[in-house]
Amino acid sequence: MNLKVTIQFTAAFLTLGVFAQQPNYEAKVDSLMKLMTLEEKIGQTVMYGGGWDKTGPTVSTDNVKFIKEGNMGAMLNVYTAKATRDLQKIAVEESRLGIPILFGYDVIHGHRTIFPINLGMAASWDMNMVENYSRIAAEEASAEGLHWTFSPMVDIARDPRWGRISEGAGEDVYLGSEIAKAYVKGYQGDDLSKNNTILACSKHYVAYGAAQAGRDYHTVNMSEDELRNVYLPPFKATVDVGVETFMSAFNELNGVPTSGNKFTLRDILHDEWKFDGFVVSDYTSVNEMIPHGFAKDSIDAARIGMNAGVDMDMMGHLYRKFLKDLVAEGKVDEATINDACRRILLTKFKLGLFDDPYHYSDEKRQQETIYKPEFLKAAREAAAASSVLLQNNNNALPLDKTKTIALIGPLAKDEYHINGNWGGAGDRKGKSVSVFEGLQEFLKDNQIIYAKGCDIVKDDEKGFQEAIDAAKKADVVLLVMGEDHGMSGEAASRTNLKIPGIQPKLIKKIREAVPNKKIVLVLMNGRPLNLSEEISQVDAILEAWFPGTMGGSGVCDVLFGTYNPSAKLTITFPRNVGQVPIYYSMKNTGRPIPDNNPTQDYKSNYIDVPNTPLFPFGFGLSYTTFQYSDLKLSSNEIGMNDKLTATATITNTGTVDGYEIVQLYVHDRFGSITRPVKELKGFQKIFLKKGESKTVSFTISVEDLKYYNNENIFGVESGEFEIAIAPSSDFKFKHTFTLK
Ligand code: NOJ
Repeated sequence: MNLKVTIQFTAAFLTLGVFAQQPNYEAKVDSLMKLMTLEEKIGQTVMYGGGWDKTGPTVSTDNVKFIKEGNMGAMLNVYTAKATRDLQKIAVEESRLGIPILFGYDVIHGHRTIFPINLGMAASWDMNMVENYSRIAAEEASAEGLHWTFSPMVDIARDPRWGRISEGAGEDVYLGSEIAKAYVKGYQGDDLSKNNTILACSKHYVAYGAAQAGRDYHTVNMSEDELRNVYLPPFKATVDVGVETFMSAFNELNGVPTSGNKFTLRDILHDEWKFDGFVVSDYTSVNEMIPHGFAKDSIDAARIGMNAGVDMDMMGHLYRKFLKDLVAEGKVDEATINDACRRILLTKFKLGLFDDPYHYSDEKRQQETIYKPEFLKAAREAAAASSVLLQNNNNALPLDKTKTIALIGPLAKDEYHINGNWGGAGDRKGKSVSVFEGLQEFLKDNQIIYAKGCDIVKDDEKGFQEAIDAAKKADVVLLVMGEDHGMSGEAASRTNLKIPGIQPKLIKKIREAVPNKKIVLVLMNGRPLNLSEEISQVDAILEAWFPGTMGGSGVCDVLFGTYNPSAKLTITFPRNVGQVPIYYSMKNTGRPIPDNNPTQDYKSNYIDVPNTPLFPFGFGLSYTTFQYSDLKLSSNEIGMNDKLTATATITNTGTVDGYEIVQLYVHDRFGSITRPVKELKGFQKIFLKKGESKTVSFTISVEDLKYYNNENIFGVESGEFEIAIAPSSDFKFKHTFTLK
C-alpha cells in the first residue's frame, strides 16, 4: 500500500468508524455527505457489472479504476464471498472516502438452490412458501456477498406471448399483490442489518407486462384508471411492506418512457406512496430513451432520468459522464443528486455496510449455507406444490409403482432447462435432479424404458421409432416435454404458443401407436401453452413449469401421489394464440354471449373458437374431489362502515387427503366506470382429510370494493355486488348483496 493509499484508507476507516457509532442513519448520511465532492455523490448513483453473467447487451467498463476513483456505488453480476470481498477491499481501502459498494444480482427464483420459476411458485397460492423460498434465496445470496436482489418482478402479465410472464405471479391484481409482499418479507426479513437479509427490488416499474402484442420492451398505452386499478397495486403493496428499492422499466407508458417518467416515479412513487428507498434504472434503460425518441442524446437522457427520479444508472455510463456538467449548466439541481445519493447511502447504512463492509462476504458462511439439505428439501416441496394437474382422465395419475414406464421426451433426462431462465447461480448439470433421476427413487431400473424421441426445437424425427417402441413395451407412457429454458424470460417473446418443434407430432405418433395405453404428459415451460390438441391425445397433463434444482423429485412426488397436487393456475391458458389477451377479470361488453344461446348473432364472440379459455385462472385438479356448499352471507345489505362475512362449507369427498385453494370472487355490477366480470378478493389454502368438512369464512369491507374511477378518485359506490366462494374462476354467481 503506498503512502497516499494508506492515508486515504486511514481517513476512510476513521470516518466510517465514527459513523458506525452514531445511532441515527439520517444523521450518519448527512455527516458523510458533508465530506463528499459532487463527483463522489454522482459516483454513488452509478452501477456497473462484473460480467459473471450476461443480463443485457455488452457494455465495457473499467471497474477497478471507477471503484478507486469513487465513481461507482454499486455492482451487479458478481458474487461469491471472495470476489465481493476483493472488490469491496478496493472500495474501502483505495477510494478516498472508502464507501462500500452495494452488490446486486438477479436472484429471481433462488440463488444456488433453484426453486420453481415464479409463475410456478405463484400457483402454490402459498404465501408462507413464497416467503420461505425468498428467505432461503436471501440466505444463500447473502452468504455469497450479495446485498441486493432485483426481485420480485411484480408486473401483472396477461399476455402469454410475453416471455417474462414466467417471472411474475400471473394475471391477478389481488393475488399478485399478496405474493409481492411475501417476496419482500422473505428477502428483507425483519432487520436489514443482519448479514442474511438482502434488499428487495420491485420491478419493472411500471406496466412493463402490458407490452403491445407481447413483444418485449414494446409500447404501452393505457388509461390511468387501468394503470391504477391493475398495474400499480402490486408495486404499492411492496411499498406498504417496506421494500427498499424499485427498478424503472424499459417500456414507454403513454408516450413517456418509464425510466424518465416523472409522473410515475416522483408524483406517484414518492409523493403519493411516500416511498423512501431508491430507484435503479433497468439495464441501460435511461440510454434507451434515445431510441424511444424521448431524449435527444445521451446528455439529455441523463438529465431526464435523474430529474424524473431514477437515482441509480445501471450500466448506462450516463450519470458518471454527464451529471456533473448538467449541474454546472443548471439542468439538474445539485439537490436532486444529493437526494439520490442520500437514498443510496441510507440503504448502505441500513445494511450495516459502514459497520463492517465485509460482513456479507464470509467464505465459511458461504460454504455452510449454499445447498443446505433443508433448502433442497424445501425446493422439492415447492416443485410439488407448484405443479398444476390440468387433466387426469380416468385417474391416469397417480402412477402405479409396480408398472413399467416408457420415459420419453427431450426434457425427460434434462438437468439444464429444468432450472428455468433466471436460474441464478444455481448449478445445473450434475446438480439439478431430472425427472429420470426422480423416477429412480420410485422405480427399479428395469421399470424405466427411456427414449428421448426428439429435441425441443430441432425437427429431426430419427428418434421417433425408438420412442414408439419404448411406448409399446411399457405399461404407461410418461412424456416430459416443453420449452427450452431460453424460450421464456427476457427478450423471449413468442407468437406461437404450441409446444415447440416436433414434440406435438411425436405425441400424436405415440398415441396412434398405443391407442389404449395411459399417456401422461409432464410439461416444463415458462408460459401458458396452447394445449388444445394435446388434451385429446393424452390422459393426464401435469404443468410443472421449470421446477428447479429438485424439480425431478418434486414432480415424481406428484406423479406417484406422495404429494397430492394442489396448485392452481394464476394465469389463463388460452385455446389458441388468437384469444390473447384473455384473462378471467375481463369486462362484460355490451353484447355478452347469452348463457342459453351461445351462438346467437351479433354477440361479442369468435366464430371459430368459444370465448372461454382452455384452462381458467384458479383451476387445478387434485387426486381427491372437493364439494362447495352452503354459501351464506352475514347480511344481504351492508352500509359503508359495515363488514360482510361470507362462509361456505368445503368437503373432501374423495379418497385421499389434500389441500384445496378456496377463492372468493366479487362482481361490482355497475359503476361510474365498468367493472370486471369477476375479481378475486380473497383465498385460503386449506387442508382436508378425506371425508372432512370445514367452514371457510371471508370478511369483506368497503376497502376491498374500492377502485379508481376515470377521474382517478379511489372510492366505492353504492349498488349491487355479486359474490361467490369457488374452486376456480369458472363459475356463475348465484348470490348478491347491496352496499347502501
Ligand atoms: C434486465 C432485466 O430487465 C432486469 O429484470 C434485470 O434485473 C436486469 N437486466 C439486471 O440483470
